[in-house]
Amino acid sequence: MDIASFRELLTPAGQALLAEAGEADISEAGLLGTASRLRERYGADLVAAALTQVRSRRRAEAKFGSDSGRMYFTPAGLEQSTRASVAAHRARRFASGLPAGARVLELGCGIGADLMARSRMGLTGDGVERDPLTAEVARANVTAFGLDDLVRVRVGDALEEDPDGYAAVFADPGRRTARGRVFDPRSYEPPLDAVLGLAGRAPAACVKVAPGIPHEAVPDGAEAEWVSVGGDVKEAALWLGGLAGDVGRRATLLPPGAPSDAEPVTLVPAGLGDPDVRPWGRYLYEPDGAVIRAHLVAEVADLVGGGLADPHIAYVTSDELRPTPFASAYEIDGVLPFAVKRLKAELRRRGTGVLTIKKRGSAVDVDRLRRDLGFGGRRAGFGEAETTVVVTRVGRDPVALLARPVQHPLPVSARRPGTQDADPPAAGRAR
Ligand SMILES: C[S@@+](CC[C@H](N)C(=O)[O-])C[C@H]1O[C@@H](n2cnc3c(N)ncnc32)[C@H](O)[C@@H]1O
Repeated sequence: MDIASFRELLTPAGQALLAEAGEADISEAGLLGTASRLRERYGADLVAAALTQVRSRRRAEAKFGSDSGRMYFTPAGLEQSTRASVAAHRARRFASGLPAGARVLELGCGIGADLMARSRMGLTGDGVERDPLTAEVARANVTAFGLDDLVRVRVGDALEEDPDGYAAVFADPGRRTARGRVFDPRSYEPPLDAVLGLAGRAPAACVKVAPGIPHEAVPDGAEAEWVSVGGDVKEAALWLGGLAGDVGRRATLLPPGAPSDAEPVTLVPAGLGDPDVRPWGRYLYEPDGAVIRAHLVAEVADLVGGGLADPHIAYVTSDELRPTPFASAYEIDGVLPFAVKRLKAELRRRGTGVLTIKKRGSAVDVDRLRRDLGFGGRRAGFGEAETTVVVTRVGRDPVALLARPVQHPLPVSARRPGTQDADPPAAGRAR
């Protein structure tokens, strides 16, 4: 898709084609037929641009819900964009930490998902994007949602921007280049150091980074926030200057699906030392990945009145069942030294037909173990029962727990941001 065809797509004729393509068969089997039928009345480039949009909009539903049907994308821009619920959460933090209408400069705004989320919260500002087509798409998105009065998108190099005059800077540097995913922050586009340098010149800033960012790389005075959606860790964000709380780090859990008005649940350090080490109790708690990344396992152990069976493994165990949004609970009904033959005999004895395997602190290959336990073929298992096997270790001893998930019957309470003291990350935390 080139800029000329994308612009044509925004004209009345292009919009008519887009609407028609939206109703057509774009399945693998039907796509060629649809394309050649549309090419009888429209130019080939315009048809290709329309079909790219329609296919992208379908793929984008998971990230943007019903908004996806009005948005525009480049395939790479969709891939790199922030999902709506995470962007809305971030935008809410910007809006609550800045005066109404404050101007924010976004360095590398992509197709504009974060930009729009902030402007929907009443913030104004500019997005700078290096790629002209992506910038054009971001502009079309801003217009499609009636936000032109609040934000502008311009083509340019973020590294030449001056944050002077803006209340805050936001950057979500690209972590996927033409060569694939990049892990070294120096290879982010723009590079993380350069972005942090610019962000540091603004009164406040937020920079999105990979969830694997080491705690040592979090700048002094910044707050690192790990965000998960429906239990999957999506990103970390570094909050700087006036937008950094005083908690140092936090884990924020968002529900799957569309952004909601409900406040997200967030856990912050409670100034605890390392969790107690104790034998397996009646319950196993598997902390949310954002909690583990944020080194807040001790806080979860405290919330559920438990400790760790192994000090280096983030499985919390307790004799009590205390509902918490920050961990999934399992009732343990067997602890075995890990041995495939013995485990298989136990699954047979229980009549297990549905097997879930989880592991932490073990090198076991889960797919292979599933096969070795008799769950590889078409007639898998030994009956109807559901069993969760948790493969882990205590010290050097490999262990298999037999467990079943507990559905929390009670509404869960959440800790609110900024209610606890900061606790510096300690070495050797459970992971
Ligand atoms: C991860 S994407 C941003 C996605 C955006 N947050 C969203 O949700 O739609 C990063 C963007 O930065 C742009 N970019 C990379 N280096 C840049 C630079 N030096 N100046 C301006 N934009 C740049 C890329 O083209 C890409 O579109």
